[in-house]
Amino acid sequence: MEEPSDEMLILDFDGRVPYDRYVAAASLHGLQRPRGDDPGEMSFLMISQIMELYFQLIDFELGQAQRRLRTDDVLGSLAPLRRAALELDGLIASWQGLRWMTPADFNRFRDLLGEASGLQSAMYRRLEFRLGLRNATLIRPFKRDPRAHRELVCALEEPSIWDDVIAVVARHGHDLPAEVSRRDFSVEHEPHPAIEAAWVAIYRDDRPDNTLRMLGEALTEVAERFGDWRYHHLNAVRRAMGAKPGTGGSSGIGWLERSLARVVFPELWSARTHM
Ligand code: HEM
Repeated sequence: MEEPSDEMLILDFDGRVPYDRYVAAASLHGLQRPRGDDPGEMSFLMISQIMELYFQLIDFELGQAQRRLRTDDVLGSLAPLRRAALELDGLIASWQGLRWMTPADFNRFRDLLGEASGLQSAMYRRLEFRLGLRNATLIRPFKRDPRAHRELVCALEEPSIWDDVIAVVARHGHDLPAEVSRRDFSVEHEPHPAIEAAWVAIYRDDRPDNTLRMLGEALTEVAERFGDWRYHHLNAVRRAMGAKPGTGGSSGIGWLERSLARVVFPELWSARTHM
């Protein structure tokens, strides 16, 4: 059998290795700075960083979908929504890497976190705002970080993807009152019976080229998986610290359960009762 040959490989470069120039791998691998010497802390820190990257990527995809929706390109919005759903699967799978952690394991480095908590994740908050979960109070941690603060205020004041979807539904001839589109975007969307009725009508139309129903299903995939991430987080918290208060100052599980009760794309779920 012929030996694999290395002769065609490109191995000499004048400057920085092109892979690193593109991926910035060396910079990424230089960002892990555990505060102590417990080996478990590295797993907690890096999985948090991996999840942060996923938050950013999913937020990007949803932004791409919004751009398409704003020009009524409903079919064009399906590809980024599909990518977002698959990337959410990757995000959820990242929890596997923390399943080893018992309360004793977590206690070995928990104090080193100080008041640091995922509650203060600007990217997660942006993603929630994008999905329509809006709570202006949760911007407060960033008031001394003008850039992060400005970005979050902009994200809060912009229409969420759900607002853009509702606008598309209205432009497709569904009868929605003006108050649902001319609203203050910085407050959380209130579920409206007319939007629910529009989704019932959209799903009733079973023609294969019903693009709004395709959109509804693509959004359902995103909402369900986002809920799965939040549920896995709650279980990870239960496993690693029981009902102790959080490092971010919340009651812990009770606060997270209330947070989890907020529904992404609410009428897309409630409409199913009437189908
Ligand atoms: C098993 C390890 C973990 C524990 C024990 C834990 C604990 C908690 C607790 C108690 C809270 C409530 C706020 C507070 O701190 O008082 C919280 C919020 C949060 N955590 Fe974690 N967490 C863990 C892992 C992670 C990881 C890996 C991430 C990924 C970045 C993350 C992201 C978040 C986010 C985004 C919130 C805010 C949730 C919301 O607003 O509904 N957590 N966490």
